[in-house]
Amino acid sequence: MPHQHGHTQDLDWSKMLEALTSADDIEAGVDAQIAEWLLTGRERLVYDLGCGAGGMTAALRAAAAAGARIVAVDGERALLDATRRRAEVETQLADLGAEIPIAPASADLIWASGVIHHLPDQQAVLNDLAARLAPGGLLALGEGGLHMRSLPRDLGMGEPGLEMRLDAAQDRWFTAMRRDLPGSLPMPYGWSTALHRAGLDEVTSKSFLLDLPAPLGAPAAEYVISRLRGLLERDNVIGLIGDEDRDLLRRVTDPADAVNQAVRADLFLLAVKTVHVGRRPVG
Ligand SMILES: C[S@@+](CC[C@H](N)C(=O)[O-])C[C@H]1O[C@@H](n2cnc3c(N)ncnc32)[C@H](O)[C@@H]1O
Repeated sequence: MPHQHGHTQDLDWSKMLEALTSADDIEAGVDAQIAEWLLTGRERLVYDLGCGAGGMTAALRAAAAAGARIVAVDGERALLDATRRRAEVETQLADLGAEIPIAPASADLIWASGVIHHLPDQQAVLNDLAARLAPGGLLALGEGGLHMRSLPRDLGMGEPGLEMRLDAAQDRWFTAMRRDLPGSLPMPYGWSTALHRAGLDEVTSKSFLLDLPAPLGAPAAEYVISRLRGLLERDNVIGLIGDEDRDLLRRVTDPADAVNQAVRADLFLLAVKTVHVGRRPVG
């Protein structure tokens, strides 16, 4: 059965292929650090759930032992195709809201980034994932962190602090997205508590910094601008900011506009990715 998230959440992941791919390119160095932190070299079975365009799958492939089996799972064929192009791994199409295609007590590492929060009952999914870990296996969630910053505070027009207001709009969209998910249950506590409740031990978190200072090279500058431009196409986000901010966002992302040209030298890229982990007890 095809899954519904594309319709219910106003997101079309297959259309997001380009955006996810350029994010993967920019984040490749950080993903390599995360994969090295997660893997010991002894893992034989590793899953990447909600793999997107496969950037982290490729990092896991590179950091894992040569004989390790890496399986990337997603609900979108186009993203699985992209993942296979990026990393030589097995792929599996599945709606994670309906089934977790992992045998009980089998996985040495389950990585899930930016996907659990799209599922209605997050705690139930974590409980289920914990049961699919081999004894001593690790569940790792890429969730939270800090929103990306890339613009100077004062753009020379409009009210300073556009990015903070865009963050607030995206946060309100996120709340509405969760509320409107069919069968959505609140999870009124943090990821550490959720991992403990799933029966996991050694629960901890680590954050990884993506820090590209100004002046950005052409690919990173293009990434920053097209990421902001992408917000203009998301009616459910852009409807939450005022006309003045919408106009400012249009101008700062239009290469023909003086606001865009003036800001180019100061564009930077600063973000934090947080990883929460818990281990299945051996006994
Ligand atoms: C925000 S992206 C994260 C991609 C990647 N893991 C990353 O961190 O960059 C969410 C991914 O989860 C997938 N996804 C969302 N809901 C899903 C579901 N119910 N079943 C399977 N995949 C799903 C989407 O297709 C998309 O690839």
